[in-house]
Amino acid sequence: MKKKIFIIGAGGLGRELAALIRALPEQFETAGFYDDIVPSGTTIMGLQVLGSIRQLASTSEAAQAVVAIGDPRIKQKIVSMLPELVQFPVIIHPSVVLGDASTIRFGQGTVLTAGVKLTVDIELGSHVLVNLNSTIGHNTRIDDFCSIMPGVNLAGGITLGKRVLIGSGVNIINRAEIGDDAIIGSGAVVRTNIASGTTAVGVPARTIK
Ligand SMILES: CC(C)(COP(=O)(O)OP(=O)(O)OC[C@H]1O[C@@H](n2cnc3c(N)ncnc32)[C@H](O)[C@@H]1OP(=O)(O)O)[C@@H](O)C(=O)NCCC(=O)NCCS
Repeated sequence: MKKKIFIIGAGGLGRELAALIRALPEQFETAGFYDDIVPSGTTIMGLQVLGSIRQLASTSEAAQAVVAIGDPRIKQKIVSMLPELVQFPVIIHPSVVLGDASTIRFGQGTVLTAGVKLTVDIELGSHVLVNLNSTIGHNTRIDDFCSIMPGVNLAGGITLGKRVLIGSGVNIINRAEIGDDAIIGSGAVVRTNIASGTTAVGVPARTIK
């Protein structure tokens, strides 16, 4: 049955996810946006901004939503504000390639956008974003609220902790472990483990913060 879904966040990622959901007309129907900055009543891509995130949080009806915010910490904060009545389906663009779907697991609210490829034995937690044309290799574990920006390649055996942000065009090789809340800057090549809460950039990646 077709499900109505609200998009939380009416910025660039929100509009991209509206387009993604429109590519799945058999599964979902977009019901509009919730956003704290864009005024209620604004029309975006033919859809209304219906109110603030706090207004969605006070819903007394069951609802489906997706969080269209790239920053992992803000994503987690928004999800923690919402009641259990709000459910988060997994959203997968029709062009996504899963090597062996029976060995790939997704937590609620995880989103795979166009051109993403996953091979085998992969676990994605809740509210993980894997954005355009990224690839994820075998035996990779990605914990809750991570955001993987476009064009990232994660070779086999990678572990990402919670709320990790991987910038666009990053390559992670050599079974690296990336700790909770780490940020990897765009274009980095990561060959070693990266500690929790640090920012690493460059080729090879070095910690700057
Ligand atoms: C890594 C990142 C988070 C750092 O942002 P920041 O904390 O604001 O850091 P700053 O811009 O102050 O830069 C700090 C230093 O790191 C360098 N730096 C920042 N990002 C870099 C990157 N991706 N590669 C190489 N060096 C980088 C800066 O040049 C600066 O060097 P300096 O101190 O010698 O001048 C950010 O630059 C980044 O890459 N974000 C990912 C964005 C992305 O992928 N967006 C996708 C949207 S779809």
